Amino acid sequence: MEKVKFFFNGSGESVPLEMHKAKMVQRLNLLPVEDRQKAIVDAGFNTFLLKNRDVFLDMLTDSGVNAMSDNQYAAMLRADDAYAGSETFYRLEAELQKMFGKKYFLPAHQGRACEHIIAKAFVRPGQSAIMNYHFTTTKAHITQLGGNIVEILTDEGLKVESTCDFKGDMDITKLRSTIDTLGKDNVSFVRVEAGTNLIGGQPVSVKNMREVSAVCKEYGLLTVFDASLLSDNLYFTKTREKGFENTDLNEITREIASLFDIVYFSARKLGCARGGGILTSSDEMYLSMRELVTLYEGFLTYGGMSVKEMEALAVGLGEALDFHVIEQTPIFVEALTNELRKYGVPTVMPSGGLGCHIDARRFCSHIPQNEYPAGALAAAIFIAGGVRGMERGTMSEQRNEDGSEHLAEMELVRLAVPKRVFTLSQIKFVADRVAWLYQNRQLIGGLEFTDEPSVLRFFFGTLRAKGDWHNNLLEAFRRDFGDSL
Ligand code: F0G
Repeated sequence: MEKVKFFFNGSGESVPLEMHKAKMVQRLNLLPVEDRQKAIVDAGFNTFLLKNRDVFLDMLTDSGVNAMSDNQYAAMLRADDAYAGSETFYRLEAELQKMFGKKYFLPAHQGRACEHIIAKAFVRPGQSAIMNYHFTTTKAHITQLGGNIVEILTDEGLKVESTCDFKGDMDITKLRSTIDTLGKDNVSFVRVEAGTNLIGGQPVSVKNMREVSAVCKEYGLLTVFDASLLSDNLYFTKTREKGFENTDLNEITREIASLFDIVYFSARKLGCARGGGILTSSDEMYLSMRELVTLYEGFLTYGGMSVKEMEALAVGLGEALDFHVIEQTPIFVEALTNELRKYGVPTVMPSGGLGCHIDARRFCSHIPQNEYPAGALAAAIFIAGGVRGMERGTMSEQRNEDGSEHLAEMELVRLAVPKRVFTLSQIKFVADRVAWLYQNRQLIGGLEFTDEPSVLRFFFGTLRAKGDWHNNLLEAFRRDFGDSL
């Protein structure tokens, strides 16, 4: 691995050195704390409902907000606009075929659209999809069709703090016993998610993927790979997995793709653009999804994406295999995690890709899980610093069929670190405000829904504070920060 050493770095701090420079910038605003508090109250304590103009550092997600490269913007200018047969499509198709070594590429407007199509084509009511861990939209599409999901991470995967390098790995013994218990015909497919999102952006080892693939072949089961967070996963394959230190990223990617029947991705993440796609080499699988793409997404040579985005994606995919590009998120996540832990803030360990994940269950141990501690903490972080994170806990779960609350296994606040967007001083600002909040954590209280949608409620549900805690927090801020923003 290429490393840049600092000669005078006596403190031993790992500095996430940027291997790019800013060519275009966007002005940011940090509102006074009173305005921040009003904004989050108006947004129903839901960070998804904040207006971006009220946000200082948007760490909601990396989806669609990674900084694009000069070459991506340049490529947008040559986009070939056509409803059918656009030259842009063939360029993107060729890039994907080369990258993943699959015969067919089906375009879709984003990752969940791919999930919709895959679920429609392969999930029957009563069937189970086995996976390392669910993603919110994946689960919603499967359950909407009457299917259900079974998660089989190893025991390390759900430990907030662990020394396991690959917490996204599946438990192979559980995989066999789950298939045996359910019966092969009741399994729609087995899905592996790279950079496992909801447990803290944790990687899956190639060794584990090989084993999953071998077991599924033995049982004759369909295998699906969610490559949305492949970049982060590749970084950890190179830096943590024995035997891959010197393997070319192209080679690792093709090997991974060869282990699965279907590969899909959100191009809002992989390739730093906006869109999505499904790949397979099977004629039969291709045909079973093709009509669904034209029905739900668009004609087969654009699938709901704009040609400009497709050009940017074709270039972005090439860059997704450049180590200097893919290391940017993980090294900044590590810097933020290390900074927070200096102040005792509990986080998911080891730090993964995507973002820094704060353990709200420990941070707010005084708030019961059915009062959404991670949602409350995300709102409090916004009040403290204008930093928009995302609740990834019980609020992000769907209720059980009987209407009871489905308590999340992990209660996290994610501070996403989109690629090449933030500077180290901004990261230090975030850490400082969160550390202040940690000292004042007893002030944070719970939340309750005022409007609760039945599907994906975390996106647009609204809540209110239980009690007056947001006012107490504001007062504490003014006391400690004086007239600072
Ligand atoms: N799979 C994974 C692993 C994801 O992280 C996402 C999106 C999707 C599928 C769905 O893709 O948004 O393009 O429809 N994750 C975003 C996030 C929303 O913020 O983590 P999409």
